[in-house]
Amino acid sequence: MSVLSGKKILLGISGGIAAYKTASLVRLFIKAGAEVQVIMTPASKDFVTPLTLSTLSKNPVHSTFYDEQDENAEWNNHVEFGLWADLMLIAPATANTMSKMATGNADNLLIATYLSAKCPVYFAPAMDLDMYKHPSTLESFKALQSFGNIMIPAESGELASGLSGEGRMAEPENIIAFLEADLSAKLPLKGKKILITAGPTYEAIDPVRFIGNHSSGKMGFDIANQAADQGAEVILVSGPTHLKPKNGSIKLISVESAQQMYEACHQYFESVDVAIAAAAVADYRPKFVAEQKIKKAEADFAIELEKTKDILASLGEIKKNQFLVGFALETENEIEHAKQKIRKKNLDLIVLNSLNDEGAGFGKSTNKITFIDKDFNIEPMPLQSKEAVAADIINKVIAHYA
Ligand code: CTP
Repeated sequence: MSVLSGKKILLGISGGIAAYKTASLVRLFIKAGAEVQVIMTPASKDFVTPLTLSTLSKNPVHSTFYDEQDENAEWNNHVEFGLWADLMLIAPATANTMSKMATGNADNLLIATYLSAKCPVYFAPAMDLDMYKHPSTLESFKALQSFGNIMIPAESGELASGLSGEGRMAEPENIIAFLEADLSAKLPLKGKKILITAGPTYEAIDPVRFIGNHSSGKMGFDIANQAADQGAEVILVSGPTHLKPKNGSIKLISVESAQQMYEACHQYFESVDVAIAAAAVADYRPKFVAEQKIKKAEADFAIELEKTKDILASLGEIKKNQFLVGFALETENEIEHAKQKIRKKNLDLIVLNSLNDEGAGFGKSTNKITFIDKDFNIEPMPLQSKEAVAADIINKVIAHYA
């Protein structure tokens, strides 16, 4: 999945021949899953039509502070556009528009919006080769970059003038690749490796039967997706579930039993920065697994059980700098029991679920949790979707490294 997915992008188009390429640019943004609003300078409408761009972006396109033809026209609020956007891209950025951006000359909606934008601003210059090298253009580049704006350099090649050289706006595919690389590099968990356990475990009784539980794996998968979306390298060790990781970068290791989950976790734990145990691991397993299917010969039948290894506690024993997060599902004296688990398993953070809270627990799409950290700071959270809970958990990890 592209880092642009779900991003709100404000595309500012100024008046150069390269404006015709913005139709492809908008298409690529939409394909990447972004939402796009387009603002044009009046001059750019000579090169590409607002109708093309509104059709492709599925949003109205604006170029003036209000629509002069419409008696009931509303003010096109540049401040609102600026606040709406996660990212603003000015492409093509002509010498004229860049000079206005550099001096704050807000004589059109695009520049007024640029001056109101709080999000990162990228600009992709486009002009003829001599204009591109002119000292005043170079001054604009310098000024805009000193404001924190990010330049997507022009490419070399044939220019509209017939001359050949540097000044062509970067190709739409290259602009998308530039933005994706830049945004990925800035994700808060970039460079961090996270191990996550999810799902139930199945403990074999015989070749066809097992002891399991109702865990769907959703909580662990949501945490894995959030972590990967924030740039982490994720290893997801999951018991049997029908779920698939949404983020394609997640390394999924499928296991069945607690013992297999234990072994997979220990294979990776040393190399990770963070481990989050969201699996509902069976606490007991049959002491003897029958080699053949057990026949219903007797009226009564008993299975002798033995304890499985506590995976989380075993990671707590060997942890060095890893940030270790566990879950606790409690029915009484919740806070006290959770605090004991923090100490017993050497955790940095515990995510407490109380079965007394409505909407929490197995098979639900919502969860209500309380965070307790190793210093016993307690932070109750509201009832939320599991995705939102996963985001809160990953925000705790981000805060730890901030
Ligand atoms: N866990 C684990 N391996 C186990 C059992 C539990 O890694 N064999 C992890 C779970 O993934 C969870 C945490 O330990 O993050 C808490 O598990 P829980 O079953 O609530 O607690 P227990 O320590 O098993 O204590 P009890 O069942 O007695 O409450």
